[in-house]
Amino acid sequence: MTAPRWALEARNLRKAFGPVEAVRDLTLQVRPGEIYVLVGPDGAGKTTTLRLLCGVLEPDAGEVRIWGHDVQRMPDRARDELGYLSQRFSLYEDLTVLENLRFFAEVRGVPRQQWFHRSMEILRFVGLAPFVHRRAGHLSGGMKQKLGLATALVHTPRVLLLDEPTNGVDPITRQEFWQLILRLAHEENMAALVTTSYLDEAARGHRVGFLQQGRLFMEGTPEALRARFPYQVLRLQGEPLREWRAAAVELDAVHAAQLFGDRLHLWVQPGSARQVSRALAHIARARGWPRPRVEATAPTLEDVFLVHAPG
Ligand SMILES: Nc1ncnc2c1ncn2[C@@H]1O[C@H](COP(=O)(O)OP(=O)(O)OP(=O)(O)O)[C@@H](O)[C@H]1O
Ligand SMILES: [Mg+2]
Repeated sequence: MTAPRWALEARNLRKAFGPVEAVRDLTLQVRPGEIYVLVGPDGAGKTTTLRLLCGVLEPDAGEVRIWGHDVQRMPDRARDELGYLSQRFSLYEDLTVLENLRFFAEVRGVPRQQWFHRSMEILRFVGLAPFVHRRAGHLSGGMKQKLGLATALVHTPRVLLLDEPTNGVDPITRQEFWQLILRLAHEENMAALVTTSYLDEAARGHRVGFLQQGRLFMEGTPEALRARFPYQVLRLQGEPLREWRAAAVELDAVHAAQLFGDRLHLWVQPGSARQVSRALAHIARARGWPRPRVEATAPTLEDVFLVHAPG
């Protein structure tokens, strides 16, 4: 079968739980081979969206197509094309790595002659081949996450839904995880929708959607999103940082100052960066603070999210 235009297509999805509108009129599409990162804070509606997309939750309105199959009307066809790693997936801790894969292969109806070959292929892919006989309960957190990914891939889906797969995983494993997803998209033309609450991960995807309060309020490539940032960004590093924040926002040309770890991002009116830098040097002298390091920098996706997020 030739690939459809959209591997995953959701139109006008809505879901409320009593008074809580968890997903509001959400429309999104993901192409074959494309990685779409859905970013949002706790409670934004990421998990609800994924559960609607894979058909375990029925929407109040809207429709979903997976590889062209309507999830409500052709659930079996849609599910065959879908791999889903839920936020709190569970492995069988007493089973070995390989036994876990056999279990998920059986659930997914992978023919008996194929499961072993496919399982070993995936385990090599995710770097777990040396651990096939280790009990899942004895794996590290990052290894469990990779095994989770492997179980979602065992039936060779065309569309992968991953719910916060890198949450709580160390930075190196996070890096490896993204590389695996990129390779799957590239080599197997797989579409992936990956959720995260880490804004700094958003730029890993080909396309990014920002979700808040159930609303997909902005989407685009990382470059296109950055280009829509309306201010210049000055990065300020110096002590005392919190006092610097309060002092900087007093300046007319500074729209806001965001604290990112050990630095501030000052959002300044276009064309006023130099004037602001001079004013900051003046403040340092007047208050007897060490002169801060101030540099112009490109906006990050965190800046973009924060400036456009509703409410
Ligand atoms: N089964 C449910 N019953 C009632 N309310 C729910 C249910 N599932 C989700 N909600 C509510 O819907 C909203 C969205 O929740 P959801 O789990 O989709 O957010 P999330 O973006 O996945 O958050 P997190 O980052 O914490 O996983 C929240 O206000 C949540 O409390
Ligand atoms: Mg969630």
